[in-house]
Amino acid sequence: MTQRRILVTSALPYANGKIHLGHMVEHIQTDIWVRFQRLRGHECYYVCADDAHGTPIMLRARQEGITPEQLISRVREEHERDFAGFNISYDNYYTTHSEENRHFSEFIYRTARDQGHVEQRTIRQAYDEQAGMFLPDRFIKGECPRCGSPDQYGDNCEVCGATYAPTDLKNPVSVLSGTRPVERETDHYFFRLGQFEDFLRTFLGSPAVQKEIANKQMEWFASDQGLADWDVSRDAPYWGFRIPDTDDKYFYVWLDAPIGYLASFKNLCTRESIDFDAFLKPDSQAEMHHFIGKDIAYFHTLFWPALLKAGGFRIPTGVHCHGFLTVNGAKMSKSRGTFIQAESYLRHLNPEWLRYYFAGKLGNGVDDIDLNLDDFIARVNSDLVGKVVNIASRCAGFINKRFDSQLADSLPDAALYQQFSDAAGHIAELYETRRYQQAMREIMALADRANQYVDEQKPWVLAKDPEQLAEVQAVCTQGLNLFRVIVTYLKPVLPRLAADAEQFLNAGVLNWNSAASPLLGCRVNPFTALMTRVDKAQVEAMLADNATAALPASQQQQQDGGAEATGAEAAEAENMPATAGPLAGDPISATISYEDFARIDLRVVKITRAAAVEGADKLVRLTLDLGGETRNVFAGIKSAYDPAELEGRLTVMVANLAPRKMRFGVSEGMVLAAGPGGSEVFILGPDPGACPGMRVK
Ligand code: MSP
Ligand code: ZN
Repeated sequence: MTQRRILVTSALPYANGKIHLGHMVEHIQTDIWVRFQRLRGHECYYVCADDAHGTPIMLRARQEGITPEQLISRVREEHERDFAGFNISYDNYYTTHSEENRHFSEFIYRTARDQGHVEQRTIRQAYDEQAGMFLPDRFIKGECPRCGSPDQYGDNCEVCGATYAPTDLKNPVSVLSGTRPVERETDHYFFRLGQFEDFLRTFLGSPAVQKEIANKQMEWFASDQGLADWDVSRDAPYWGFRIPDTDDKYFYVWLDAPIGYLASFKNLCTRESIDFDAFLKPDSQAEMHHFIGKDIAYFHTLFWPALLKAGGFRIPTGVHCHGFLTVNGAKMSKSRGTFIQAESYLRHLNPEWLRYYFAGKLGNGVDDIDLNLDDFIARVNSDLVGKVVNIASRCAGFINKRFDSQLADSLPDAALYQQFSDAAGHIAELYETRRYQQAMREIMALADRANQYVDEQKPWVLAKDPEQLAEVQAVCTQGLNLFRVIVTYLKPVLPRLAADAEQFLNAGVLNWNSAASPLLGCRVNPFTALMTRVDKAQVEAMLADNATAALPASQQQQQDGGAEATGAEAAEAENMPATAGPLAGDPISATISYEDFARIDLRVVKITRAAAVEGADKLVRLTLDLGGETRNVFAGIKSAYDPAELEGRLTVMVANLAPRKMRFGVSEGMVLAAGPGGSEVFILGPDPGACPGMRVK
């Protein structure tokens, strides 16, 4: 097989929102494909970035009283953390606010302009005199010109579905200032998409674009004006790159966003000495694949190929659109609590469960996919735990205990093994063409077959007869080898499980060819549980947690009883020991639900500093390290500890307690301690091996 060179991207998430499970559909879909290509031995690079420009980001930063740079760097950290939590294997996660991106954006723009693809034109646009800026459509509200519904946005009516120009709205107001916008003239730059019509027709007709998407885009050609020119400029104030040879015009965010794919890859190439041009030159033999949602197909199948063409780069090998995620059959909704943030999911559930669930639902079309939470629990438990892991756990015990972990030297049913390894070609074809749902079905059919084999052979019965011991070893060796093939096929989807299985099998890293020959005569490691079952309570706790996390900051504070404590409350707070838990001898009081318990985020922390608080009898000020994050906590433990002896120790804290304002400062959590009080207070600590930041479960 010749080695392919492949560049892959997922769409760049906006830098003003949290990562939610809708994003995860895309990044999991892409990551499975990328991991599959690497497993097959191809040279495959996966890049992404935050989409960091545009008016909403500018305004959001203003609202928070920080600079856009501060906002986008904070959000990027959160995004990277969430994606890492789901094991998404980017080679580079960058930002569109980078020098590389400025370079490529200017380069493509200049090249296009110098070839006559850009036209300057005067347009009239809504302007907010009070805010001193032109208003994007979404920043104007008014009454729908068709049905008269109030409070509709400047581009379409959510009540009757009409689409219109913001100038058509009745009684329009600016969302920013509440004043009535005026119309003003301004010069804008237009990319003349119509000049690429023939090129785009060919592109849409090629295998690079799914048929259903191509047909939809073709409709644009049929409209009266043909392909409309594309306004790529915005007036100051704008957060983005200034357009070369202008004073106050900026690139519209959708111009530099896809160019951010190139910039992120360039940044990787520089760092790792990869030949950028070999991938991006027009006649490149390398492949370039973009994974996106169907809502942004227009940008990726019309503008983006035209920009690449204009800039003298190669065009995409594939633009792969997926559908939208729904939860329990409905659009994700904040009020129903189904707008599930990646963060909330990761706090309660195993990322591999979702990777598998999505794989089981994804095809290569643009149908929406539904996360039904009951189905999620049932599928994961029955397929992953009940079928896949079960094969190994039924066989491993015998090998570990009876045969000193040694596998037999030959397979009792070589034909069955052959059947398993012969499936590699077809399953590869399914991954390659993004028919993951079918791939999962075929793999689960193999898992069923493997379990059936173990059922028929009954090693637990054989094991009772000393004469049959060799048979037990042979059957379990067969079972573990079938398991090994299944894990190989699932490795793109379940990297964590595969790594644990590799560790157990003790024969190096699995690649796609590993299935070709069985593992015989060697020693495995002791078997440990590879995956636990999903419990409904965990899903419920995740939803409850998500419901609070999804509230806007202002509401959250109200929920917490307000961050500002009154004088009396502050005094009371100082008297309370800042430690949690009943005192010795207290009766165990009312029970709480598992969900309530699951909401408490307990963390191992290191006390990096401890100091007595001036003017407080009982308080010690603790600086706690949560493995990167630092918290300030006041603890009522002065009569029990000399602060100096606390420094450097590990303890456990409640990390998601609402901050409490005390007379001496804000306390950001509580540490766990036991004892009646006074000099009899004992800080709880973890066993050796625990590190700051670890979750207590
Ligand atoms: N910033 C642009 C993309 C620029 S790419 C050069 C953007 N960002 S986004 O954060 O709104 O969406 C990022 C990706 O997530 C898009 O491909 C979008 O289709 C996808 N999804 C967002 N919500 C989704 C669901 N509910 N379901 C599935 N995918 C969804 O668009
Ligand atoms: Zn209407």
